[in-house]
Amino acid sequence: MDNKDQLLNKRAKAKEGGGEERLKKQHAQGKLSARERIDVLLDSDSFNEIGGLVEHRSTAFGLEKQKIPGDGVVTGYGTIHGRLIYVFSQDFTVLGGSLSETHAGKICRIMDLALKNGAPLIGLNDSGGARIQEGVVSLAGYADIFYRNTRASGVIPQLSVIMGPCAGGAVYSPALTDFVFMVEETSYMFVTGPNVVKTVTHEEVTSEDLGGAKAHAEKSGVNHFIGGNDVECLKMVRDFITYIPQNCQELAPHPSVFEFDKSNLEKIESIIPENATMPYDIRKVITFVIDASSFREVHKDFATNIVVGFARLEGRTIGVVANQPISLAGVLDIDSSRKGARFVRFCDAFNIPLLVFEDVPGFLPGTDQEWRGIITHGAKLLYAFSEATVPRITVITRKAYGGAFDVMNSKSIGSDLNFAWPTAEIAVMGAKGAAEIIFKKEIASADNREEKWLEKEAEYAEMFANPYRAAERGIIDEVIFPKETRSRLISGFKMLENKTEKLPNKKHGNIPL
Ligand code: HXC
Repeated sequence: MDNKDQLLNKRAKAKEGGGEERLKKQHAQGKLSARERIDVLLDSDSFNEIGGLVEHRSTAFGLEKQKIPGDGVVTGYGTIHGRLIYVFSQDFTVLGGSLSETHAGKICRIMDLALKNGAPLIGLNDSGGARIQEGVVSLAGYADIFYRNTRASGVIPQLSVIMGPCAGGAVYSPALTDFVFMVEETSYMFVTGPNVVKTVTHEEVTSEDLGGAKAHAEKSGVNHFIGGNDVECLKMVRDFITYIPQNCQELAPHPSVFEFDKSNLEKIESIIPENATMPYDIRKVITFVIDASSFREVHKDFATNIVVGFARLEGRTIGVVANQPISLAGVLDIDSSRKGARFVRFCDAFNIPLLVFEDVPGFLPGTDQEWRGIITHGAKLLYAFSEATVPRITVITRKAYGGAFDVMNSKSIGSDLNFAWPTAEIAVMGAKGAAEIIFKKEIASADNREEKWLEKEAEYAEMFANPYRAAERGIIDEVIFPKETRSRLISGFKMLENKTEKLPNKKHGNIPL
């Protein structure tokens, strides 16, 4: 065989992966191959492979007869919409995409390059976990990856796409990355699978129910986005990448073309119901303010009492955090505080300005919340906002009560501009509860207690259920009509474009984890 044939043969063998039969099985499950996935993810013909001929060195349990160039993971770099991206894609047809010492080494090599060159890392996961025949070196390989995930955190964006099994300790690499995408029905993630669960807790549960895309979207919040199939999911990643910068030193791309329907300015005026106890969908407010079709909601089905996501204002990426009155009246609880805090920290790490829409009646009361630590978890959101140095603007649409008012990006914790709509109620608590406490004796001694209570409630509401006491004190900067919101936000974020703020010198803070 001449030199040329030798190389062509090796390349062909690498491309073949685990062979025709296994590829057929992969396709029959509705899954693409590792290379097909890269083709969908990256701009066409932009992929450059690195380490395509790497083979494992193991000889245990007959592994020396199962050597396939690439060793179950395709690694390299390419572009998405012309921007540099590093990628690894596990090949389930090669020993179940299991992670050997060399497989891990290839992933680490890509991670090191991504970090040194300041570009996002995208991992396409489809693996049976540690290569069982290799034992402990495989475990060390995982740890090498975890270490790099952690070191790269906050420096380059890291995205994980789960496109098949991801079980055992393997789940911790995606968990350390910024965003997890999952494919419906063909992917699952769990620390221990259904068999172990059955032995230990006697629960009978399928892989899908235990760790499928829906379970993690709604129950655990482990994933942030789900796609209906491989292609849809990978296209979501391509779109998502346009909202974020390459690394922590850069700004997100700023397309100059955007659309905005001016009729939204009138529509927004009628969103808040006349009756302050009636709910409304905060996503309407978001949609009517931002550029057309630009909202990308993160964690859509988890902790739905807070809405977080990326949007654009005249093409500029912003991160939106908003209380959601149609879910639990928009209260803050453990899950919504965790969800909000993680999102705020991503935006702050990657120079994405924050916009907060506030309509919050307070923190969720109850033994369940208290005993599970709402104090610590609520403090996460408080900490995340307080620590953020990116431009920050708050718009209070309606309720801003108690400690939750402070937490939701109040001026005292470093927000740059705070607006309130005329419907805002900024107070320690709701008028009914307040009247009951401060006028307790007066109400108790009244001939008609009900009437007195209502009278005192109205008195308190007159005083505080509006934005003007806060405006008089400068606790909010301006009371604005809803239709003025978009233009005030655009000019506000422009004004804050060159904001520089440094945290006190420290090794790192100690967020209440
Ligand atoms: C080596 C593996 C493998 C593994 C699968 N294969 N997992 N080889 N190490 N971990 C091989 C199979 O032998 C098979 O080879 C091929 O991959 C496809 O596997 P199947 O079982 O035929 O596929 P399927 O029926 O789809 O089942 C997929 C699966 C199952 C559910 C993932 O393969 C499985 O349970 N694998 C083991 C999972 C596991 O226990 N991993 C270790 C977890 S501990 P052939 O030649 O027949 O095609 C762990 C610790 C990490 O990962 C800790 C990090 C800190």
